[in-house]
Amino acid sequence: RFTPTPADRFTFGLWTVGWQGRDPFGDATRPALDPVESIERLAELGAYGITFHDNDVIPFEASESERAQTITRFRAALDKFGLAVPMATTNLFTHPVFKDGAFTANDRDVRRYAVRKTLRNIDLAAELGATTYVAWGGRDGAESGGAKDVRLALDRLKEAFDLLATHVREQGYDLRFAIEPKPNEPRGDILLPTIGHALAFIGELEFPELFGLNPEVGHEQMAGLNFPHGIAQALWHGKLFHIDLNGQTGPKYDQDLRFGAGDVRQAFWLVDLLERSDYQGPRHFDFKPARTEDFDGVWAAATGCMRNYLILADRAKAFRADPDVQAALRDSRVEELAVPTAADGLTGLLADRASFEEFDADAAGRRGMAFERLDQLALEHLLGAR
Ligand code: GCO
Ligand code: MN
Ligand code: MN
Ligand code: MN
Repeated sequence: RFTPTPADRFTFGLWTVGWQGRDPFGDATRPALDPVESIERLAELGAYGITFHDNDVIPFEASESERAQTITRFRAALDKFGLAVPMATTNLFTHPVFKDGAFTANDRDVRRYAVRKTLRNIDLAAELGATTYVAWGGRDGAESGGAKDVRLALDRLKEAFDLLATHVREQGYDLRFAIEPKPNEPRGDILLPTIGHALAFIGELEFPELFGLNPEVGHEQMAGLNFPHGIAQALWHGKLFHIDLNGQTGPKYDQDLRFGAGDVRQAFWLVDLLERSDYQGPRHFDFKPARTEDFDGVWAAATGCMRNYLILADRAKAFRADPDVQAALRDSRVEELAVPTAADGLTGLLADRASFEEFDADAAGRRGMAFERLDQLALEHLLGAR
């Protein structure tokens, strides 16, 4: 029970299990992991695929021939262990050249280099069969007000995305972009800090249909926002292209806890929403196994991510199937929200005396919504008490 299989479509970033535990205050606590070993172990654990930044696989300083050799070895491992690569992304933040950002660096030569680095990895992503290309701003942001003209930075961000999309169209790749919002860290403030900012920005791009979102649980929660609500809005706009599942305990530094740790109630409502939605993409984990852990702890955390998703899906299903919950949903008139407010149109609404002239607002104000009972039932299902 709760044993993941590839049919569950669980995927992991190579940089997650491969994180060595380096933080601003401490050195690495674990040696580097060979991506081939990560592929083998994740396949054993029941994952469907892996994702990567260019430099998770190919060292930044690799020569052309080293790059080609590395890719050959990487592909062989994917084939041998049967893992897919549904998504790839670019490292535009580790090297000092990106200290002021990539697509929005003030230095034009850095911006041109960043776009070229991304274009090259998009070609590799398409070659490996990826259908989603994630764009996380990384260091596209600032620490001080005078350092970045944000309106110009958004012009340059749009320019970069228009260039990338033009390339994908010209090459005929079956690839769409998923922008990943994050409010801060490593910059003091990052551009496109939340799902809402990113959705609005996409509308200004030349090929908006090629752009959607890759929201991360912890990133919205760092901004104090409700992640399931953000996902619901992304779904509503048809823009949930990918998702980064992890955990966070409120507004603080980016914890990247394993999925299910942190705010487990939001995790429950998230899985409930995803499982009932038309989202068909991978369930992608972007977490950092705590730096206290050795490799046993790393694989335990990876397993925990997948098990927690399956457990929450099971709990959400039991919640929806419970007759007491169905009665509570009726008492809360949850489904009444599906009824249009004025299917009779503006004329009908204006002519309907019951809607205003004869409406008893005081009586309506006395009606209880019965949400407390509904939420208690949810909590009891989540806690395994029902
Ligand atoms: C974070 C981000 C990153 C990005 C990843 C893709 O935790 O700050 O999630 O992990 O998802 O690097 O570029
Ligand atoms: Mn994160
Ligand atoms: Mn992420
Ligand atoms: Mn991360």
